[in-house]
Amino acid sequence: MAVSESVHGMWSSRLMFILAAAGSAVGLGNIWRFPYLAGENGGGIFVLVYLGCIFVIGIPIMSAEILLGRSGRQSPINTMRELTAMSGANPFWQIVGWMGAIAGFMILSFYAVIAGWAISYIFQMGSGAFTGADAEFANSAFTSFTGNVWSVVGWHGLFMVMTIVIAARGVGKGLEIAVKYLMPALFVLLVVLVIYAAATTGHFMEGVSFLFSLNTEKFSWGAVLTAMGQAFFTLSLGMGAIMAYGAYMPKDASILGTATTIALLDTGVALMSGLVIFPLVFANGLESSAGPGLMFITLPIAFGQMEGGEIFGVIFFLLVTFAAITSSISLVEPAVAWIVEKAKISRAMGAVTVGGFAWLVGLGSAFSTNIWADVTIVGGMTFFYTMDYVSNNIMLPVGGVLIALFAGWILDKKIIEDQMPGRTTMFSLWRFLIRFVAPAAVSLVFVMTFI
Ligand code: TRP
Repeated sequence: MAVSESVHGMWSSRLMFILAAAGSAVGLGNIWRFPYLAGENGGGIFVLVYLGCIFVIGIPIMSAEILLGRSGRQSPINTMRELTAMSGANPFWQIVGWMGAIAGFMILSFYAVIAGWAISYIFQMGSGAFTGADAEFANSAFTSFTGNVWSVVGWHGLFMVMTIVIAARGVGKGLEIAVKYLMPALFVLLVVLVIYAAATTGHFMEGVSFLFSLNTEKFSWGAVLTAMGQAFFTLSLGMGAIMAYGAYMPKDASILGTATTIALLDTGVALMSGLVIFPLVFANGLESSAGPGLMFITLPIAFGQMEGGEIFGVIFFLLVTFAAITSSISLVEPAVAWIVEKAKISRAMGAVTVGGFAWLVGLGSAFSTNIWADVTIVGGMTFFYTMDYVSNNIMLPVGGVLIALFAGWILDKKIIEDQMPGRTTMFSLWRFLIRFVAPAAVSLVFVMTFI
């Protein structure tokens, strides 16, 4: 039946798969997006809905993606094609692979731009430009940096080149080596920053209470949709990234246990990032609801006011950059693998093609803070916001539901048996969540938000 190895290579162990998938999951979504969304949506209640989505929808769908990937052992597009045929299902289901590829380019288009900003901020923090900075200074530094089309496009390009280089080197020599070093480094940096925030700000508990106390006044279905979209985004679900990584996973590792571990790591990093950022924000009397600028405007002010802020500022943006790289390589992997299978070209050529195209699409987002700042696509949103909103709040949940329905109702039982041996309680719970709860929950949120 299923092949035991992928032509693209394999992770050398279960631990390496966990590091790679956690590397995909932990990214700008945790450090940049989660804190600012929690800030905009009133803290505790948002966090609670988000955590609920992680456990009820996220972990089951992540398991389903790994299951599908490991059964097909190819790019998501070809995996879906093969599994659809093997299960005697309607070719419609192949849409999962194609829609995922489109969502991947959309996400990368803004992801790489923000990652580029972060790289630039490593140098800006290191130069001491923010020492003693006040809000006005940090605001104008951010506006003039993002307003300069050449610098934004340049850093965006540099980030894409780094992504391409790692992707081109392949699964064993590229992706695995990157995550093997960057993930532990990231974890150490994060722990250092949490200790710093706890020890020096004197406002640590305020951060804790902001994240965990329920303020029901802020409840809205729009915020629930945002929390659900964030759960998909932060776990890299709904577009085939985890499916692609699952294709390289050793057969002997348990899917449900591994998915749970990855989700817990990811959630831990998001909460820790909140515990770094909010104490800094409150200690300096800044606004928690500052939006996407929270990390780039508010934090530099905080670092500028603090003892050793320059060094910790550099550490912080290094952390963000590492996290972004181990995620972006998973965003290009599905398309790179597909091109290699389809066109029979080298991985290097595949990576350059995909990365180059993603960079081109990303120009739309890079221009959204300068020459296209006034160009809006839908609902008054810039290209940047449109890509973020449509991919995270719509395409990922839709892709995720299709994956859930396919794995729960369509996929040949023999394949599931082969990939998930043993009929444990955990398995029954998964089967129930994936067949009924996850599709119903996502549909409910869509209906309540859009109708
Ligand atoms: N999960 C990553 C983050 O939180 C982003 C990411 C990587 C992603 N690969 C993905 C999001 C695939 C959706 C789909 O930053």
